[in-house]
Amino acid sequence: MLIDIITIFPRMFAPVLNESIIKRAQEKRKVKVRLHDLRDYTADKHRKVDDRPFGGGAGMLMRPEPIFKAVECIMQNLKFKVKKTNSKIILLCPQGKTLTHRACKRLSKYKHLILICGHYEGVDERVRRHLADEEISIGDYILTGGELPAMVLIDALVRLLPGVLGDKNSLNFESFEDNLLEYPQFSRPASFKGLKVPPVLLSGDHKRIEAWRRKEAIKKTRSRRPDLLK
Ligand SMILES: C[S@@+](CC[C@H](N)C(=O)[O-])C[C@H]1O[C@@H](n2cnc3c(N)ncnc32)[C@H](O)[C@@H]1O
Repeated sequence: MLIDIITIFPRMFAPVLNESIIKRAQEKRKVKVRLHDLRDYTADKHRKVDDRPFGGGAGMLMRPEPIFKAVECIMQNLKFKVKKTNSKIILLCPQGKTLTHRACKRLSKYKHLILICGHYEGVDERVRRHLADEEISIGDYILTGGELPAMVLIDALVRLLPGVLGDKNSLNFESFEDNLLEYPQFSRPASFKGLKVPPVLLSGDHKRIEAWRRKEAIKKTRSRRPDLLK
């Protein structure tokens, strides 16, 4: 998968991209992430990418030209042929669809993603209407920019790419698979400050353990996220 990120703060990404599973996924060539400084695509001599909103109002908006130009350049310079069906332009936006595990699974199938990170009061509406294929929000709250949402999205997608996680079973039993939260997990010691691990987990009886886990997953989901069971 190739991920192109359009941002005015490309340096924000280094700590996340250069650690842990995302770092290893890039080393294994499962994903390539390229950062594009939006200011490189503006004709303004001061490299300004924002302007005042028509009709007045607080704050500044990101102008459409540099964003359209950045996307056009990225698409023109792709080394491989992408069909519209395996490439997506995503605007990170609090007004978009809230990101879910299901959406991550769907997006992880694309070969190419362009992520547009907004800032200030957001982006000119024409980017939303005429450029972005999809708008994604990471929750009902407002962040200062789309960089953290883009990192959240990349993290969630990359671990779903085949061959990225060492044990692919870790994906099968996670929360939100099967519309269930994950069952309770315990590690050593079997007794800690008098708090004991459920005996069934120490029994070595895999069938019983599996049944217990399923029952506990349903119980947990029913009490915490009944909406998932609907
Ligand atoms: C301060 S926000 C703009 C909010 C906008 N004025 C509104 O009321 O919808 C600036 C940028 O941060 C990003 N952003 C903020 N919150 C977000 C969220 N919950 N999910 C995704 N992106 C978000 C978007 O890229 C947005 O363009």
